[in-house]
Amino acid sequence: MPTSMMTAAYITGLGPADRIRLGPLLVPTPGPTDVLVAVETVAVNPVDAYIRSGRYRTPIPMPFIVGRDLAGTVALTGPGVTGFQPGDRVWCNSLGHQGRQGAFAEYAVVPADRLYRVPEGVDPQTAVAVAHPAATAYLGWYVHARLRPGETVFVGGGGGNVGTAAIQIAVAGGAHVIASARPEDHPRCRAAGAEAVLDYRDPRLAERLRELAPAGVDVMWDTSGYQDFAVAAEATAPGGRIPVTAARAEVAVPLSRLYTRDVAVLGFVISRASVADLAAAAVLINRMLADRRLTTRIADRLPLAETADAHRRIESGEVRGRLLLLP
Ligand SMILES: NC(=O)c1ccc[n+]([C@@H]2O[C@H](COP(=O)([O-])OP(=O)(O)OC[C@H]3O[C@@H](n4cnc5c(N)ncnc54)[C@H](OP(=O)(O)O)[C@@H]3O)[C@@H](O)[C@H]2O)c1
Repeated sequence: MPTSMMTAAYITGLGPADRIRLGPLLVPTPGPTDVLVAVETVAVNPVDAYIRSGRYRTPIPMPFIVGRDLAGTVALTGPGVTGFQPGDRVWCNSLGHQGRQGAFAEYAVVPADRLYRVPEGVDPQTAVAVAHPAATAYLGWYVHARLRPGETVFVGGGGGNVGTAAIQIAVAGGAHVIASARPEDHPRCRAAGAEAVLDYRDPRLAERLRELAPAGVDVMWDTSGYQDFAVAAEATAPGGRIPVTAARAEVAVPLSRLYTRDVAVLGFVISRASVADLAAAAVLINRMLADRRLTTRIADRLPLAETADAHRRIESGEVRGRLLLLP
């Protein structure tokens, strides 16, 4: 049984990263259908900083423990939980929003239907590192863009966290992938399964894309948030889909080229995903983790005490890969 106090990274009000405190809070008590997890690794996402600052508004309790993703070990289960036992290795990617307390603490309460096993032989740090980008990729391809085997897709920002997972999951689904990335990330995109990789800074990118996919791509997903809609509208085949999951700036959208060609623009955030869709994503993620088909880049591993710094680094936009923290 855990002791009554734990160390947590938390805020008492929305604001900049400096507001994150490290200190003792009560170990939470699991409800009837909850699991108490002894947290071993957490991963920082850009959205953690959006929630902490108030840029993405969602109901949260105060004091609020930041963060949404964890890997750890089951410490205790509520009386109504049948699927987990103390000692099970588990991961979760949906704490810290919609009224749920966050993950960055020694212990976290997770509703049992939001908790998944770490497959045998898989490093829990890899599981928590891929969880958020890979679940986003699953939702983008299957819940929103309705990807079909044999389709040709474009993944912008293929060297990034979401981009690399998007390539891996599209390839696993039988799609042909063209990606864009900075040249040093081209081998990474190819290793993920992309058949062709373009330099996103190439001024002739649209032309090269047309050469590679003369009939247009079926799905055009720029995961970076720097989508050029003039290029996207031309490069997407009639009946194609354009998922939107980030926006670094408000941009002009050539509506007439979209609606006259039955092209759908599909915005979504993982924070709104249903428990069922997240669970379906977890099934695919676990299968691909077990097969070593989902890989990621770990930028750094830090102690929990450095959560505020981790948020500052994520906000600087300079982190390449995943930042993990170890309570
Ligand atoms: N809607 C959702 O549910 C959801 C879920 C997860 C993430 N997101 C958002 O998705 C965005 C990406 O997240 P991430 O974790 O994948 O970030 P990331 O790892 O930083 O990846 C971004 C990638 O985009 C590349 N890039 C930079 N400028 C580009 C350009 N002009 N064209 C094409 N690619 C460019 C970057 O390359 P360099 O390394 O060369 O700069 C980097 O590889 C963030 O804004 C995040 O908040 C949204």
